[in-house]
Amino acid sequence: MPFKFLITAGPTREFIDPVRFISNPSTGMMGFALAASAMKMGCDVVLICGPAHIKPPVGVKTVSVTSAVEMEKAVLDNLKGADAVIMAAAVSDFKPARSLEHKVKKAKAGLSIKLRRNPDILLKLGRKKHDYFLAGFAAETDDLIDNALSKLRKKKLDMIIANLVGKSGTGFGSEYNEAVIISKDGNLRRLPRMTKQKMAGIIISEIAANIRRSVL
Ligand code: CTP
Repeated sequence: MPFKFLITAGPTREFIDPVRFISNPSTGMMGFALAASAMKMGCDVVLICGPAHIKPPVGVKTVSVTSAVEMEKAVLDNLKGADAVIMAAAVSDFKPARSLEHKVKKAKAGLSIKLRRNPDILLKLGRKKHDYFLAGFAAETDDLIDNALSKLRKKKLDMIIANLVGKSGTGFGSEYNEAVIISKDGNLRRLPRMTKQKMAGIIISEIAANIRRSVL
């Protein structure tokens, strides 16, 4: 039986009013490359995708969402039977406390917005009783390994892929990425700058090898 991968990708959007939102620079490229790579290896893939800048890979079952709350629901709805879950989406941590139905006119707008926290989808997945392999990404500007390790532990992950953001030529919006794969036993595998497709192939192979070992 092929493995089932549930993969999230892209940013989320948290609307302030119909013409304004809070989001981040994620383009969806890394998550799409993971989905394409898993599909090429013969896995069943469900891709949950925020408003990305590029088209999802052809042939992958894709569920499109906008906000973090919608992404959480889509993940939970598609979790059944998953052998691996990879949260590659850049989920917005905050949303406006109120999302307004009508455009706020600038002359009348206040200059501050009250925010609320969004659900941490990965944290919830890690805390659930589960038998899927759970992987997340850590986007960091500083202390890459320490910050990623604390996310790995806090969210009870099997693997975290740590990448520095804010560095030109890799990460958000680039076709390239540079990362460190950290497994739950503390093993580090450094991946030098390479295309996101190549990196996706390495990540999917590592996860597939882990799932195979756990079913033997
Ligand atoms: N994540 C999530 N739900 C959120 C925020 C993040 O599921 N509300 C997931 C991301 O998809 C990623 C991992 O958690 O796989 C780490 O995300 P990151 O933005 O690096 O860290 P945060 O947990 O948001 O922590 P901080 O903003 O403090 O760095």
